[in-house]
Amino acid sequence: MSLRIAIIASGVGSNVANIIAHAKMKRLDASICLVLSNRPEAGALQHARNNNIPVWVNDHRAFANRENFDNAMAEAILSAKADIIVLAGYMRLLCPSFIRRFKGRIINIHPAILPAFPGVCGGKDAADYGVRITGCTVHFVDEIMDNGPVIIQAAVPILDGETEKDFMPRVHAMEYQIYPQALQWLADHRLLIEKRAVRLIPTKKPCAQIFSVNVGEIPCLINPPLERIY
Ligand code: GRF
Repeated sequence: MSLRIAIIASGVGSNVANIIAHAKMKRLDASICLVLSNRPEAGALQHARNNNIPVWVNDHRAFANRENFDNAMAEAILSAKADIIVLAGYMRLLCPSFIRRFKGRIINIHPAILPAFPGVCGGKDAADYGVRITGCTVHFVDEIMDNGPVIIQAAVPILDGETEKDFMPRVHAMEYQIYPQALQWLADHRLLIEKRAVRLIPTKKPCAQIFSVNVGEIPCLINPPLERIY
């Protein structure tokens, strides 16, 4: 049975679109059973509707507090029988009771190499700091923001004189590679958490290993490497 995924998003939804496309093309053994948002105008919802995926949308400001809002989301996720919850640009913190309820079943993508530059401005903070390499991280979600065990990361060089606007498209391009990969590993039950470290259980499936991916002319690095055949 394929993995049932609920995605929570607040914004444009390019990761939502990418995950839907991967599932549709059978590059990802999963079905997206629900897309949730706290923003009625979120582009993520349109991607879901275009693909006949059920949506749950409620403005969080209509709820008395965060816990009530998160409880309403939890009920919708349980009704949709989702196996895992994927955060894709969800711009609010989840309350501890929600995280405990779905322990080990929530994952997030962050636009920096954690633990560097956590928070809502990962790209801007990396640019302001002047790092020469940034990237993105897929990780399990725990009760501390951008803190849970790391599943996969990609490294993206920042060239001389580049601003956030110049290098973030490369970071996003890498997000579109590593998020579906992490989801496929979950679908294959290949991820094992030992303390903070996420181990990848070996498989006999044929796999194509790619360590370095060019985005435009710029080589970017993925670790652990992608394993599905594209
Ligand atoms: C991505 O950069 C992701 O890393 C961060 O939020 C952004 C969402 O972008 N958590 P999109 O809405 O998927 O285009």
